[in-house]
Amino acid sequence: MSGTVALDVPVVDGIPFARAGRDDLRAEVAGLLAHGEVDRARVALLADADDWWTEPPPSAEQLARVPAASTLREAMTLLGMGRVADYFAHRWSDPTHLAGLALLQAHWPADRPVVDVACGIGAHLRELARRGCTDLLGVDVVWAKLWLARRFVCPSARYVCADLTAAPDLAVGTPAYVMCHDAFYFLRDKPAAAVAMRRLAGPGGTVVVGHAHVADPHGEPLTPEGYAEVLGAGLLYDDVELTAALLAGRAPRPAAPGALRTSEAIALVAGDPLRPAPADLGEPLGPLVPNPLYTDGVLSWPSGRYAAEYGPRSAYLPARWPDPLPADAARRRLLVDLPEAW
Ligand SMILES: C[S@@+](CC[C@H](N)C(=O)[O-])C[C@H]1O[C@@H](n2cnc3c(N)ncnc32)[C@H](O)[C@@H]1O
Repeated sequence: MSGTVALDVPVVDGIPFARAGRDDLRAEVAGLLAHGEVDRARVALLADADDWWTEPPPSAEQLARVPAASTLREAMTLLGMGRVADYFAHRWSDPTHLAGLALLQAHWPADRPVVDVACGIGAHLRELARRGCTDLLGVDVVWAKLWLARRFVCPSARYVCADLTAAPDLAVGTPAYVMCHDAFYFLRDKPAAAVAMRRLAGPGGTVVVGHAHVADPHGEPLTPEGYAEVLGAGLLYDDVELTAALLAGRAPRPAAPGALRTSEAIALVAGDPLRPAPADLGEPLGPLVPNPLYTDGVLSWPSGRYAAEYGPRSAYLPARWPDPLPADAARRRLLVDLPEAW
């Protein structure tokens, strides 16, 4: 069982701020907290974004309204998250998320402590919590995303804002299940990130990296052999195969690194591969609602950018809302399990 973190860093709304390279912000937040200025401390943390994000932060007045937002999307609008908000709002049916579910399905953490590295707003943590996992930690560099995760997506997990390669002691029990989905290819120092994940997993633990770009030039991709070597992984999958397996309700087929050189993205498992999940993650847990990507019966992508990225990879979502609904409507994510305050 993992413990609570007693970090020497400021904590607002239960989320410690230990991000590397933010000493000035940490000092500012600590100073505000020392004077009982929790609201101003929260605003300062909500303004902190990814290093690659070029938009200026919203005004302090706008950020101060975030805690009163009644939905995830309203909060993301107030945070000025733009295209990142589209990505997170529609995560529940995108092919990359489904590939992540297929990985969890094939390599289930059961009662192991789970660390979701670069967890974003906690979409995968929510699935784990709803399926009975209790020892959950989400780590991300952007405090605002963790705040959204805790408020709207998976309140039962604990969260620490930190850079994977410069994280404090996260007090994770071992052997642990350390996952990193749709983020590892971003990380500049992949050997350091792999060492950090292996250390967190501990002897007999498991490291699962999902959606690592290979042919897709976004981020700083490696070859399949490069990822396998840096992670010490012997089990690899094509991301397309993972998504297809989840949709078909079958086990995904692993592939040799040489067969994955032209894949857009791959997944890797290092350490104990564990066993498949007892439940079928292809069938989302209810209550289910119509996928909000459909407007007046027509599949409507939230932006041209989103359409270009996910449209060609989402053939399981028909262009028009089918009537009657097919028997596999939930598996194909025509029906989705949105967070309660989506
Ligand atoms: C594309 S999102 C994926 C989020 C989540 N894993 C998911 O699948 O929904 C990438 C995430 O990586 C986080 N990130 C980037 N660099 C990081 C680092 N060095 N340590 C921790 N998180 C990082 C970003 O803030 C962002 O939330």
